[in-house]
Amino acid sequence: MSLTSRISEVRTSFYRDLEGLRKDLNSIEKIRVKYLGKKGCLQTLFREIPQLKLEERREAGKLLNELKTEITGKLSSLREEILRKAGKERVFDYTLPPLKPDIGRLHPVSLTMREIIKIFREIGFSVEFGPEVESDYNNFQALNFPDDHPARDMQDTFYISDTVLLRTHTSPIQIRVMKSKEPPIRILAPGRVFRNEAINARSYCVFHQIEGLYVDKGVTFSELKGVLEYFAYRFFGGDVKLRFRPSFFPFTEPSAEVDISCFICGGKGCRVCKGTGWLEILGCGMVDPNVLSEVGIDPEEYSGYAFGMGPERIAMLKYGIDDIRLFYECDVRFCRQFY
Ligand code: PHE
Repeated sequence: MSLTSRISEVRTSFYRDLEGLRKDLNSIEKIRVKYLGKKGCLQTLFREIPQLKLEERREAGKLLNELKTEITGKLSSLREEILRKAGKERVFDYTLPPLKPDIGRLHPVSLTMREIIKIFREIGFSVEFGPEVESDYNNFQALNFPDDHPARDMQDTFYISDTVLLRTHTSPIQIRVMKSKEPPIRILAPGRVFRNEAINARSYCVFHQIEGLYVDKGVTFSELKGVLEYFAYRFFGGDVKLRFRPSFFPFTEPSAEVDISCFICGGKGCRVCKGTGWLEILGCGMVDPNVLSEVGIDPEEYSGYAFGMGPERIAMLKYGIDDIRLFYECDVRFCRQFY
């Protein structure tokens, strides 16, 4: 049989194959291999061309090339049709590489709080919690705030009613614990607090505090200093300096504010430390005898110290973050950087 007639036979066989074809990519691929593959029908015919007489070669080559183009075109339009239909039906492509699972991260404030708690746990502090919605009594009154104290002002406190508010500090947990437990009491109380303050790089309306309280016989201010210095040494390392400034809190006497040297700017002064070179990280003092009496602990027999620190400030120092608002923007790109 001449090559020309075998070419036309291949064409007929191709169209016959198409008639019975299942319309999927696999079957089309099989047909492609059968006709256009390296060992396919067309290649076999192409290989015979050199044996033809010179004048027949050109004609046979032309016919074969035409058939090749015809088959290629037919198959590719069949393939497109299938893909178009699949697109509409949203067929799942199992050959796609899988998405990497997106694992959560601890928020830098949580990380910092865990680390602080760990240090104090190791030296005998246990952890207590209190509610974010507090009574005016626990948040202010029992802590020796006079009725007309400016901190009760609407500007600082989010009131829910005349007697209920969002706690402005974690100190009400001191009251709850001292009322429910006998000394010795040695606790840490972490939590969220709320203040109706102007929002800027240093302050936000929601933030965290970690309260510390130690009540026992013969507790002294020098113990308080020792514990805080030990904490700073453990948390920041040996380079950071502590500065105790006399201060006032209604519920401690004497009181102090503790600053650590700002290591964003190395003490030169920057936006975070407001140019002072120091960052206030905590307030502290000896528990005021009035507070002890209020919760039924005899101030003649017992004394205690308390401190309250801000983990946001501390995280800012530790990670070199210069704006407190970043903690609350919920940007995962921010949170992913700390771990
Ligand atoms: N509660 C105080 C504040 O929010 C901090 C503090 C706690 C001070 C315990 C002394 C003792 O500023």
